[in-house]
Amino acid sequence: MALLPILHFPDPRLRTPAAPVAEITEQVRTLAADMFETMYHAPGIGLAATQVNVPQRVIVVDISRDKDQPLCLVNPEILDKNGEEEMEEGCLSVPGVFETVRRAEKVRVRYLSLDGRETIIDADGLLAVCIQHEVDHLDGRLFVDYLSTLKRNRIRRRLEKSQAEVL
Ligand code: NI
Repeated sequence: MALLPILHFPDPRLRTPAAPVAEITEQVRTLAADMFETMYHAPGIGLAATQVNVPQRVIVVDISRDKDQPLCLVNPEILDKNGEEEMEEGCLSVPGVFETVRRAEKVRVRYLSLDGRETIIDADGLLAVCIQHEVDHLDGRLFVDYLSTLKRNRIRRRLEKSQAEVL
């Protein structure tokens, strides 16, 4: 396993739409294992392959307190959305920023598990928010896109400044 570098907003590669996975190969299993390691290490509760510069439709999630319920969704597809809720979100690609986003309260999601089985789950609460956030990444969308242009530009300037200081 390996830790993967995470792209940071406003890196244009975060805008690349990810392609569906045709088959669960060793490459996909290795990618998922590396993504779990990277997510747990960060630490975070969700990570999309787009964020580690792999434009494939793979996300990993673990919202459990003890970090012992890893969930990998390949080719996730939101079939149905219900209700509305607002939650404060953060993102490993937008470090240090937490903002309230409105999303569906419940989602029905179809995906392939790592053993190639088509699975359908109903998610609500934090898991529903997390899956919607990660599927957005696969479509090149970030949670800051839901904020006002003014706010987004302020975040962009702040992150560009902090990245410049690291150099
Ligand atoms: Ni994110």
